[in-house]
Amino acid sequence: MNPLRQLSLDQLRQRTSMKWRYYPEDVLPVWVAEMDVPLAEPVARAITEAVALGDTGYPAGTAYAEALAEFASKRWGWEPAVERTAIVPDVMLGVVEMLRLVSHRDAPVVVNCPVYPPFYQFIESLGRPVVEAPLDEAWRIDFAVLEDAFVRAGEGSVYLLCSPHNPTGTVHTTAELTEVAALARKHGVRVVADEIHAPIMAAGVSFVPYLSVADDGLSLMSSSKAWNLAGLKAALAIAGPQAAEDLARLPEEVSHGPSHVGILAHTAALRDGGDWLDALLSGLDDNRRLLADLLAEHLPAVRYTPGQGTYLAWLDCRELGLGDDPAKVFLQRGRVALNSGIPFGTGGKGFVRMNLATSPEIITEAVGRMAAAWNETSS
Ligand SMILES: Cc1ncc(COP(=O)(O)O)c(C=O)c1O
Repeated sequence: MNPLRQLSLDQLRQRTSMKWRYYPEDVLPVWVAEMDVPLAEPVARAITEAVALGDTGYPAGTAYAEALAEFASKRWGWEPAVERTAIVPDVMLGVVEMLRLVSHRDAPVVVNCPVYPPFYQFIESLGRPVVEAPLDEAWRIDFAVLEDAFVRAGEGSVYLLCSPHNPTGTVHTTAELTEVAALARKHGVRVVADEIHAPIMAAGVSFVPYLSVADDGLSLMSSSKAWNLAGLKAALAIAGPQAAEDLARLPEEVSHGPSHVGILAHTAALRDGGDWLDALLSGLDDNRRLLADLLAEHLPAVRYTPGQGTYLAWLDCRELGLGDDPAKVFLQRGRVALNSGIPFGTGGKGFVRMNLATSPEIITEAVGRMAAAWNETSS
C-alpha cells in the first residue's frame, strides 16, 4: 500500500516536528524534508521491541553496517566493507567529521550550487571558505566549472558531493562520477559524498555509489531520508580502501553521538523495509507526474523537470514575476510553505523547492494555493 496515501491532514497536523509546527495552522507545509508517511512496520516493530525491553542504552556492534551492505549489494550491486564503516550521529555531523579527517583546518570546501543550505552553514561554522561550482542548465555537473573551482580551492581542499543532488534530484552517472574522481585526483582534492538520498530513485533510474568508482572516497549514508527517521539520530560513514586510514583516525568520542534506538530503527529499515520502500517509490513516481500535470494546468509559467532521485521538486518560478523570493509570496498570499531557493546559494533566486513526500491531495491543494497567490498578485 502506498505509504503516502495513509495519513489525513488532521492526523498530520497532530505531529510536533518541524514541518508541522514551524508555521501557523492555516499554512500548508510542503517544505522541510520530512515525509508524510506512517513508519514502515518493521521499523515500528524494532522501536516497540526496544521500548518493551527497556533496550535504550548505548549502541554496540556493526548490525547497521551489515544491513547497509546487504541492502547496497541487492539494490546497487556494490557492497561497503563493514570494517571500513563508522556510525556517526547524523549525516551532517558525519560530513563535518570527514572534512576534519581529510583536510587541514582552514581548507576550502567545493560545493555544486544550488545545494542543500546546511552545506553552507556547517562548512562556514567550521570556519572553512565555501567555493561554489554551479551545476549546468540541465542540473548536471559542469566539469569545466568544477575544474576551475578545484583550481581556486587549491590542493588539499575537499569536494562535498551531493549524490543524488538536493534540490534538483540529479542522479550522477558512473561516467560523471568517474570523471569527478579523476579530476579530484589531478588537483589533489579529496571527495566526501553525501549519499543520504541514495535509496530514493525514480522508476528506471539507478543510483551509483561514489565508492564504487573511487577507492579514496568517503561517503555518508543513512536510512533517515528514505524511511523518515531524521528524529532517530544515526548515520554511517564509509571509507573506500584507500581512505581506510583516514576513517580510522575518527575520534572515539564521535561514536557517543548516535542514538542506540536510532541505530535499531535504521538497521530494521535497511534489513526489512524494502517492500515499504518500493511502495513509497512508486507513490513518488505518481506524485512527480501529478505535479507536472498540475503545474501545466494551473501555473504553466513554472518550469519543472521531474527529478531522477530524491522526493524534492525544484521549481523555476522566474517567469511568474514574483521577484527573487517567490516562496515568500506563496506563503504570505497562498498560505503554503515551500523552501525559498535563496539559501541554496548561487542559482537559487526565483526558485522554490517543494517536498513531494506527501499525499496527492496535499500536492493538489499546495499547487492550488500557489496558483491563487499568483493570480492575486497578477490581477
Ligand atoms: C543532502 C542532505 N544531507 C543531509 C541531510 C540531513 O541529514 P541528517 O539529518 O542525517 O544530518 C539532508 C536532509 O534533508 C539532505 O538533504
